[in-house]
Amino acid sequence: MTLSGKRILLIIGGGIAAYKALDLIRRLRERGASVRVVMTSAAQEFVTTLSVGALSADHVFTDLFDRNDEHDVGHIRLSREADLLVVAPATADLMAKLANGHANDLASTVLLATDKPVLMAPAMNPRMWSHPATRRNRATLGKDGIAFVGPAKGEMAESNEAGEGRMPEPLEIVAAIEALLDTRPKPLAGRRIIVTSGPTHEPIDPVRYIANRSSGKQGHAIAAALAKLGADVRLVSGPVTIPDPAGVATLHVETAAEMKDAVEQLLPADAGVFVAAVADWRTANAAGEKIKKVAGEGPPSLQMIENPDILAGVGHHKQRPGLVVGFAAETQDLISNAEAKLRKKGADFIVANDVSHESGVGPSGVMGGDRNKVRIVSRTGVEEWPEMGKDEVAARLAALIAERLKTIVV
Ligand SMILES: Cc1cc2nc3c(=O)[nH]c(=O)nc-3n(C[C@H](O)[C@H](O)[C@H](O)COP(=O)(O)O)c2cc1C
Repeated sequence: MTLSGKRILLIIGGGIAAYKALDLIRRLRERGASVRVVMTSAAQEFVTTLSVGALSADHVFTDLFDRNDEHDVGHIRLSREADLLVVAPATADLMAKLANGHANDLASTVLLATDKPVLMAPAMNPRMWSHPATRRNRATLGKDGIAFVGPAKGEMAESNEAGEGRMPEPLEIVAAIEALLDTRPKPLAGRRIIVTSGPTHEPIDPVRYIANRSSGKQGHAIAAALAKLGADVRLVSGPVTIPDPAGVATLHVETAAEMKDAVEQLLPADAGVFVAAVADWRTANAAGEKIKKVAGEGPPSLQMIENPDILAGVGHHKQRPGLVVGFAAETQDLISNAEAKLRKKGADFIVANDVSHESGVGPSGVMGGDRNKVRIVSRTGVEEWPEMGKDEVAARLAALIAERLKTIVV
């Protein structure tokens, strides 16, 4: 239980996303945190104190001038008897109030009176979010030491509009809370690390493409594990169905050529971890229109050309990161192939995994599955790691990278 014994004071603002705060309470409590809730009067238009109280298993605080509450707990104790204050959803109004020091209701008074860290998860219409007043308030709050998670881009619940302003999903907020409350040392603080993940899609025509079975689970887990150790992680992800890892700036690309451009633009970096299963080939001429099936003509023949080799490109780049890690998914001659790759691509080590059906890893195999069995191939030898979950592989690899980077001075 990652948040065992932690006390969260959750302030729910008056926005549509208030319904997600209910799930957030559940997620925090199942991780061992206790959650006390303050609701603004606008928030009570969206969700009831009854639901919030049932989920938090505590009294819900709503009124600054409630004689009983003020006598029992009081706004000052409320603001200090917590390890962290979380505002979710943080309305434009709550951000404005705190940025300007207003304290005219319980939520804003508690925010002003606290001596504890504050995390805000803004949620609002994209126009409200991009308004110069909100931008100013966001910048002021950042300078005042308020932490933020989101907002995310996407469809807005209320208006059939899309853009930046969605509240992050509860699990992303939980990850941000865990990161803020995590007091363990951050050996990768100040280090910038590029990670690639997922497959690439190489178009045949506007509706068809060549792909592979990579799910992005291992690459995304590595990005998250490096971020947990304090790294500034830039993830370049091919098309995957899993969410962006929390605390990681993620760029989405489709083809190998796009991935190469994105990676090169992110250089220089302290390290690069190239997990993506990049297609070796693409079609020479992707058709501009859907290729039609014509009776009697038979199937079209696809002419393939080689894609850029991203790992080798970075391994021999003039801005080569101090540490370059590649992945080798092989179905045969795992070690000799990985050793050859290490030399050819200018990598410091290769994480080799057997993706054949005979690997015996997990019920669904390595590609797409949740488990992995890897060997770390470097110039000094081969280290075999036992089969474990992809999150565990990621944590061990992140620790290894942190160890190696200690010897590389920036
Ligand atoms: C249907 C509806 C949805 C709203 N959604 C949001 C929202 O998502 N974000 C926001 O900042 N304000 C939203 N508002 C406006 C706030 O409810 C309003 O600014 C309110 O005064 C905020 O109060 P509070 O900050 O004390 O919770 C919405 C209003 C309505 C009527």
